[in-house]
Amino acid sequence: MEKKALLLYSGGLDTSVMIRWLQEKLGYEVSTLTLDVGQEKNNLKQIADKARRLGAVETITKDVTSTFAEDYVSLGILGDALYEGSYPLSTSLARPLMAKEAVDVAHLLDCDTIVHGSTGKGNDQVRFEVSIRALDESLKVIAPVRDMNMNRDEEIEYAKTHGIEIPFGGKYSVDENLWGRSVEGSTIEHISEPVPQDAYQWVTYPENAKETPDIVRIDFEQGLPVALNGVSLSLRDIIISLNTIAGSNGIGSIEVIENRVVGIKSHEFYECPAAITILKGHKYLESAVLNKKELNLKSYMDNQLSEYIYSGLWFDPVMDHIWAMEKSLNEHVGGTVNLKLYKGSVTPMGIESKSAVYDISLSSYGKGQTFDQAKSPGYIYVFGNETVLTRKARSSIKEQPEIRIE
Ligand code: ARG
Repeated sequence: MEKKALLLYSGGLDTSVMIRWLQEKLGYEVSTLTLDVGQEKNNLKQIADKARRLGAVETITKDVTSTFAEDYVSLGILGDALYEGSYPLSTSLARPLMAKEAVDVAHLLDCDTIVHGSTGKGNDQVRFEVSIRALDESLKVIAPVRDMNMNRDEEIEYAKTHGIEIPFGGKYSVDENLWGRSVEGSTIEHISEPVPQDAYQWVTYPENAKETPDIVRIDFEQGLPVALNGVSLSLRDIIISLNTIAGSNGIGSIEVIENRVVGIKSHEFYECPAAITILKGHKYLESAVLNKKELNLKSYMDNQLSEYIYSGLWFDPVMDHIWAMEKSLNEHVGGTVNLKLYKGSVTPMGIESKSAVYDISLSSYGKGQTFDQAKSPGYIYVFGNETVLTRKARSSIKEQPEIRIE
């Protein structure tokens, strides 16, 4: 019986070469799975037709944008997830979803092998392979770009000799979904140079952005956006709208030198207009609603969450505990946040929340304040004990004469 492989197929050069290569070199019967996670050029029908022309037997396509928003991006929002403080983990969050869909379709089509297009130097291979193995250890996983060690010129040559049309590829390696656009390679690899302007596609270069700001209003319930400018929308649709509005105001470009799972540093460029806007609003609302202990606990949790998502550990059981904790911490994070979007910056323009712990009658220096200041001195005295007593103990040691051994 012929071996059956399911290929995660994007329609690009790498994965198109793979369809032929898997048949020719490894004797697989190939089926393809193409997922719409919100990437820009996603004519699923054209991609499936191309796969069929190249010999794929089954060509499955699926729009998973809502699942991606509801079941993956939502945790990123609850957990203020920014890897190394900057990257909203757009690519990282989509990989476990793709792995899960691939495992389900592999079961459906009776495939014993899943094939993905990652290279051997990045994080995506880790994310796909740990996830697939965690979901079904009996499935074999292969990554021909990594295993064939074929460079782009060789791929183009293979494509020409095997009747594979060569798509017009930009000069960068790009990965897109609802939550953002990751851009790598070419001149971005040089850290001595700024990211070139032609890498900006979703974000207007801030200097060229509009002269008039946009003010957006986001309503949150239990930590998640539920309405934009007063209109109730799904999370998916809020993200789509904000990518356009914030992007046109120059918001969401991120340039970092990042630590990959495989121990390599890389110079990365991201465009995440909606993510940066939503995360800013969410964090601001949280600062009014959660107390200091909750915020401290949350910042530890958020950091762990980002590390695990980045490292491909979405299906580790620890993530169930993190979900539960993030949901609980976000239970009261509700209200309205107004944000000004202007030439690359997002500025809070006021919030309203019934759950805010903030109380103007206590914090105000003006009239009408209710805080009983006479209670402060005793509190300060006791609060200072530890610092004062420890210093005293240490300074008496210092005052003792040094013992000299002649
Ligand atoms: N460095 C990012 C990450 O690991 C982005 C990877 C983008 N992948 C790509 N094929 N361009 O999440």
